[in-house]
Amino acid sequence: MDDTPSSSLESNLPKLPCCGVEQGADDNMNIKSSTADGVATIEIARPEKKNALTLAMYKSMTDAVRAAIADHAVRALLITGQPGMFTSGNDLEDFMQRPPSGEDSPVFRFMQALAACEKPVVAAVTGVAVGIGATLLLHCDLVYVSEDTHLAMPFVALGLVPEFASSILVPQLMGRAKATEKLLLGEPISAVEAVDFGIANAVLPAAEVLPHARRMAARFNALPPAAVRDTKRLMRSGSKDDIARAMRQEATIFAERLKSPEAKEAFQAFFAKRKPDFSKF
Ligand code: COA
Repeated sequence: MDDTPSSSLESNLPKLPCCGVEQGADDNMNIKSSTADGVATIEIARPEKKNALTLAMYKSMTDAVRAAIADHAVRALLITGQPGMFTSGNDLEDFMQRPPSGEDSPVFRFMQALAACEKPVVAAVTGVAVGIGATLLLHCDLVYVSEDTHLAMPFVALGLVPEFASSILVPQLMGRAKATEKLLLGEPISAVEAVDFGIANAVLPAAEVLPHARRMAARFNALPPAAVRDTKRLMRSGSKDDIARAMRQEATIFAERLKSPEAKEAFQAFFAKRKPDFSKF
């Protein structure tokens, strides 16, 4: 696939985790950040828990996004997970023990940094993206998925509500009827649907997703950075205020729902590996 203006870029691209300049990681190395050839890569690496995101991981990702924005040499960001697993979403243990309380929470700071990032953000997704793993893709600029990818937003089944503007972005992208299936019934979004709905750019064989995403991110090296930033800002200016308002409204209701008996039943059922019973509510 000839999508790179300079093929020499490809040979210089980093292969995580062995190459690239390691810039930071949380204590358990669950987030790996590196920069090479103008691309700052953020890799979610907690395979034993299906890449579930903890408070410490959100903090590491926020630091990595901020560092990439501040680094003049970085022309694009790349977010990726592990082969076959982008992320299973927020760590459900954290939801129970250390629930996000609002705009000061690590997850809110991360999503604000991502949504406000003026540099292009590319996502390379293989396997499953659940919850915030699906939501964050709505705030990326280029998204590449594998044939086995599906996105899931099972907020309602967990006793929760959609988050980070997905309650307005999902209906905008696919229309209210399909959005009802995805957000209220929690039906998965297949890789093909993700492209059809405009969430993703292309479906690729799993082994090609990350190299292709890297090549696409590296293409910004050949473009004037201020024009890229201004164009991204203009493309998003019409929806910026609505997104910020929705994020705040959803965060308030989400925090209340996390404390609800419905959510407690859903989380306990997940860890007990049983079906939740909502018949008593
Ligand atoms: N939070 C905390 N732990 C999680 C997790 C999450 N979001 N997702 C997976 N895990 C843990 C499991 O508890 C399990 O831990 P254990 O080995 O100590 O029992 C381990 O990761 C493997 O998960 P498992 O469910 O056995 O893997 P699977 O391949 O059968 O299924 C998923 C993968 C992603 C489909 C499934 O784990 C899942 O549905 N996770 C929850 C997704 C979710 O509801 N996220 C929150 C959205 S708001």
